[in-house]
Amino acid sequence: MTTTPADTLGAPSPVDAALDLFSEEVLQDSMPVYARLREQSPVVHLEQRDLWVITRYEDVRAALGDPETFSSTQVAFNEQMNEVLRGTSLATDPPHHQKLRAVLSENLTPRALRGMKADIEAKADALVAELVARGSFDGMEDLAKHFVTSVVMDMIGVQGDVRQKMLAWGEAAFNLLGPMNERAASSFPVAGELFEWTHHRLRAEDLTEGSMGRAVFEAAERGDIAPESAGMIVHQYIAAGMDTTIASLGNAIVLFARHPEQFQALREDRTLVPSAFAEVQRFLTPMPVVGRLVTRDVEVQGLRIPGGSQAALLLGAANRDPRHFEDPEVFDIRRNPTDHLSFGYGIHGCAGQGLARLEAHAVLDALATRLKGFTVADVRRRLNNMTRPFEAIPVTSVEPAEG
Ligand code: HEM
Repeated sequence: MTTTPADTLGAPSPVDAALDLFSEEVLQDSMPVYARLREQSPVVHLEQRDLWVITRYEDVRAALGDPETFSSTQVAFNEQMNEVLRGTSLATDPPHHQKLRAVLSENLTPRALRGMKADIEAKADALVAELVARGSFDGMEDLAKHFVTSVVMDMIGVQGDVRQKMLAWGEAAFNLLGPMNERAASSFPVAGELFEWTHHRLRAEDLTEGSMGRAVFEAAERGDIAPESAGMIVHQYIAAGMDTTIASLGNAIVLFARHPEQFQALREDRTLVPSAFAEVQRFLTPMPVVGRLVTRDVEVQGLRIPGGSQAALLLGAANRDPRHFEDPEVFDIRRNPTDHLSFGYGIHGCAGQGLARLEAHAVLDALATRLKGFTVADVRRRLNNMTRPFEAIPVTSVEPAEG
């Protein structure tokens, strides 16, 4: 198979200050640009969009861990979206953040997820078995998107035609976190439909009896949680939980096709599944940049960032920082890099990471059980301001496992 440039990096060269971190070129092939930024300096000021980019592992993690200096009130790279996000856990700083986060995370605790594990594993196995029987399939459409939509919709209890809209709604939500370019502007009406549905139209009885979504709306009806919280919770699960997980499942399929010896190692030792997924997350960061408002003048490695600036924390560059990870350009499923930054870090660290892991582990396990090998033809990214999914992943030469 042909490798895309994302997998092979050349020698670092200086980055033009006019670089647009959200241009089509960069979104299509981010890693070489991120590497150049990281090797150029711990902090790079990009005139285009007036961004202060923090590039290295220790500094990115420190910024994520310091919400007083790096405020989430500018988590998006455009003003309108930061306004829309006001009052959500994602965009709120301490002390208010804690309460919002507690409501949001209640249904995503390890205890709450335990009841979903068997069902998610059975779903992954049945789907992979069906795809293997077909002999070829699209790893994005038929596997990643189909599986994640089915898990999240069934969890929330969404029924009927509205399920078809979720993928477009989830994708639009991430485009909107970027700067106000054409991708963000055209996503406003689409993401607005999701907001309207979760916040104004959705009622407990629309959701399947016994589902988590129904329980959330019933809790609001009983007065156990604030009336506006129910819509907000469902909104954040859909907006935050779909595109990211879809991107990372696609990344796993492409990486295992490019590294058949790693897939073989996984087939031989299934206890490597958690470590393998952590390495997939480190190697290809599904959401490689997050925004923050710099609240005061601050020094990062002796370089001053003025208060009031927009910071861009480059998770994607940090995850391949040779100062932190040995041989970071090597994809090695035995590495177990549990300290990767793909789920963020600190108080805003991904609230849904338990669910994402459950989904990904189930899919990796099913692939390793049902497949001996497979190949993937050329792949391109589907452009999104924040996430890095592949457009399509043509999986061919599917070799079923014996027995
Ligand atoms: C592989 C899949 C996923 C990735 C890579 C991912 C990544 C992230 C990252 C980087 C953050 C931190 C953002 C920041 O610091 O500004 C975050 C936060 C969040 N994620 Fe995820 N996520 C994933 C799956 C999910 C799922 C499945 C859900 C829910 C069903 C979810 C819900 C959330 C929420 C609600 C927050 C905000 C938490 C807060 O601000 O307190 N995510 N995620």
